Amino acid sequence: MIVNNFEEDHKKTLVEISNLETTLNQIQTNDDFQKNKPNLEKTAKHFDELLNHFKKEEVVFDKLEEKGVSGPVEVMREEHDEMKEKAQEFATLVKNKKPGDEELNKLKYTAKYLMEMIKSHIEKEEMIIYPLCMEKLSEEDWKECEEKAEAKE
Ligand SMILES: [Fe+2]
Ligand SMILES: [Fe+2]
Repeated sequence: MIVNNFEEDHKKTLVEISNLETTLNQIQTNDDFQKNKPNLEKTAKHFDELLNHFKKEEVVFDKLEEKGVSGPVEVMREEHDEMKEKAQEFATLVKNKKPGDEELNKLKYTAKYLMEMIKSHIEKEEMIIYPLCMEKLSEEDWKECEEKAEAKE
């Protein structure tokens, strides 16, 4: 079931976020940044791969809209766009060869903002959006969504 896959993705993302929190706490200076760079790069890569998760969810959102659910879906799409933007910003900051204090602060601020946003987004999807999907979508609808989502691989 596609929603189970989404929930699996969420779990992995939450693990990644908790790793990132640990990493950020270890970074005070440029030296710390250099030491932790591989971890930061790994997280940036994970955030980049979230785009695929978003694309698949949006297939289900389209279906929900067809069924007359619009408000909550609209909010989720907007959040996807904002997270994509913030994830790119984060990736760019991680690429910095020798960040100063100001840039390190910006990196931390962006990462924290993004982490909070992802956590609250996941909560909304699991508490509101997925249950709505379970209620509104027929077996036929799910099949169609799964085929379309697979095509996005
Ligand atoms: Fe989402
Ligand atoms: Fe999601």
